[in-house]
Amino acid sequence: MSTTTNQSPKPKLYGKVAIITGGASGIGKATAQLFVDHGAVVVIADIQDELGRQVAESIDVSRCSYVHCDVTKEEQVKFTVEWTVQKYHRLDIMFCNAGICSRPPQTVLELDLSTFDRVLAVNTRGVATCVKHAARVMMEQHVRGSIVCMGSAVAIRGRRRFTDYCMSKHAVLGLVRSASLQLGEHGIRVNCVSPSALATPLSCVASRMEAEELERENETFSSLKGVVLKTRHVADAVLFLASDESEFITGHNLEVDGGFIST
Ligand SMILES: NC(=O)c1ccc[n+]([C@@H]2O[C@H](COP(=O)([O-])OP(=O)(O)OC[C@H]3O[C@@H](n4cnc5c(N)ncnc54)[C@H](O)[C@@H]3O)[C@@H](O)[C@H]2O)c1
Repeated sequence: MSTTTNQSPKPKLYGKVAIITGGASGIGKATAQLFVDHGAVVVIADIQDELGRQVAESIDVSRCSYVHCDVTKEEQVKFTVEWTVQKYHRLDIMFCNAGICSRPPQTVLELDLSTFDRVLAVNTRGVATCVKHAARVMMEQHVRGSIVCMGSAVAIRGRRRFTDYCMSKHAVLGLVRSASLQLGEHGIRVNCVSPSALATPLSCVASRMEAEELERENETFSSLKGVVLKTRHVADAVLFLASDESEFITGHNLEVDGGFIST
């Protein structure tokens, strides 16, 4: 006999405190909303101050704050972590999501090295800085934390263009695999989420396409048909890795790609 109740399931992040870098837009914004819906308190760390504040207000000012944080500046990352702990007394989750993409072509023959440095500074060095400072405070507080880093489908594949972006995401996987080994003894998990292309401000600007056009093109890259990758699909995967549902998963790269096929 089935027993049904009117009680909704326990929120997956009840009582947890999270920082989301790049939370003012795209995947980070969708994840901030989902985390709050699941009972977390969220600090959005971004460089788009006006937008970041608006997003925090639109989610819930009592459960979501905005802090200016350029992930390429170590002192700003350290400040953001310290500010979060001072305000909310702990840090359970760090979603290292902030990222940028250079404009094409960036083939190896045409590599603009100052653009290359900028892409790696945000996508790789910025993620490493966030992992460092989040892990330090989690260890100090004896918190069995979850760190989720933003990879990409191109973290394990080559690309005909965007060489710097592709390299920056490969390096994130190396960081995740190393950090998970180093932090496991402290009960801290480190994982990676790797979506294929989806329409966000980043991808629309990089491809110079409107969202609909980009989504049509992206459909050709997945074996799964009849569903288009949206920010909420990625946020769902991040929620899983951030929550206790993935308690025994670390050093993993969770691809959210509809069965990516290279064309
Ligand atoms: N959109 C895609 O197709 C796709 C696919 C795979 C992976 N990703 C990755 O997802 C992440 C989020 O991207 P998105 O697609 O949501 O794009 P987005 O442009 O909507 O969001 C990126 C956010 O990062 C912030 N940011 C940029 N530089 C920063 C810095 N130095 N410090 C702090 N914040 C900074 C931006 O202000 C922005 O709010 C990125 O790491 C991106 O590489 C995106």
